[in-house]
Amino acid sequence: MKIVVVGGGSTYTPELADGFARLRDQLPIDELVLVDPDAARLELVGPVAARILARQGHPGKLVTSTELDPVLDGADAVLLQLRVGGQQARLSDETFPLSCGCVGQETTGAGGLAKALRTVPVVLEIAERIRQANPQAWIVDFTNPVGIVTRALLDAGHRAVGLCNVAKGFQHTFGEWLGVDAERVELDHVGLNHLTWERAVRVDGEDVLPKLLAEHAESLAARCLLPVDVLHRMGVIPSYYLRYYYGHDAVVAEQSTGGAARAEEVADLERQLLDIYADPTLDVKPALLGERGGAYYSEAAISLVGGLLRDTGEVQVANVRNGDTLPFLSPDAVIEVPARISAAGAEPLPVAPLEPLYAGLIAHVAAYEELAVAAAVHGGIERVEDALLAHPLVGQIELARNLAAELLAANTVHLPWS
Ligand code: G6P
Ligand code: MN
Repeated sequence: MKIVVVGGGSTYTPELADGFARLRDQLPIDELVLVDPDAARLELVGPVAARILARQGHPGKLVTSTELDPVLDGADAVLLQLRVGGQQARLSDETFPLSCGCVGQETTGAGGLAKALRTVPVVLEIAERIRQANPQAWIVDFTNPVGIVTRALLDAGHRAVGLCNVAKGFQHTFGEWLGVDAERVELDHVGLNHLTWERAVRVDGEDVLPKLLAEHAESLAARCLLPVDVLHRMGVIPSYYLRYYYGHDAVVAEQSTGGAARAEEVADLERQLLDIYADPTLDVKPALLGERGGAYYSEAAISLVGGLLRDTGEVQVANVRNGDTLPFLSPDAVIEVPARISAAGAEPLPVAPLEPLYAGLIAHVAAYEELAVAAAVHGGIERVEDALLAHPLVGQIELARNLAAELLAANTVHLPWS
């Protein structure tokens, strides 16, 4: 099996290498190819990844390349983990909306739209090259905003599945709380990428969500900025990303105090990680990587790619076409739900009817995502304004216009049509 990682020079790559080594029974790879235009990054990250594989006795070969086309031949799956504009662009996404009183976040609201506009054309171009070289290869998209990027890939007819680590993270957290292995924790997870709720958490068929809520309400409520009594009333576990909706103004107030943006913290972590990777004896994933948000993403990638290539029929949370799963959305929407993974792709499992408290927000954001794809693919300030006008965190025309102007001004280098 041959896996290609686009954005393989990422400081996250040792997490992937560690996963490939630990979980090689699930995904026996012969060749792992790290592709990145940044040769200096590849020179640091590539050897560390190779040593992590070797230390754990992994027989696979590791290849690095600054060019994509020459390494696509024979690839079974291509993972996309790139960041157009790097942390500098992320810093802009996290700050420009604040001047309009809106949350600054890399995947949510106007910042997320900016990231989508920069990213979708680049990902589509890469996907086209993958299809030309190797139409059978699966594309696994980790590149944010995952829902929008996956929708654009599927609209263009690619063999793509979108993936995020939020569900895997919950499986691990709940597993630790309950004293059981994460693999035994099944989630009734529903929504869109970075807009999800757990409606049940099953261990051996028993729903333990009421127990989790009873024992951990304070911390679960704090993550999404909900009062504890409201969380009890809801009886679900919202993801961390719901804080940007339920606690929007509180987050804006906090972000406006002038503390470091997450992009600055991450840039600092990346500098430290690259220093650590320069150690020629390093052959384990460094603990510092645990301070990034992407914990367990290798596990999600390996079980998904394993399911696709080995036709396992296992169930895993993934970003897939809605079809008729959530009847209040367009069939073309991309949703994040448990899906059966086989050689035919990721097929969403049926979802019990959703209460209006969740369905309303999902429908609202799904409509925004459709408009975001259109803006990213076709360009034009009116399309950007429309997408913002449709976003539940924006909604007013003057605000949408101001945000659109700020967004374009901050992204002229990346948006040739702006
Ligand atoms: C979570 C999200 C990812 C996101 C990451 C950010 O893992 O699921 O989509 O990229 O957090 O983490 P960072 O360390 O970059 O802030
Ligand atoms: Mn994610």
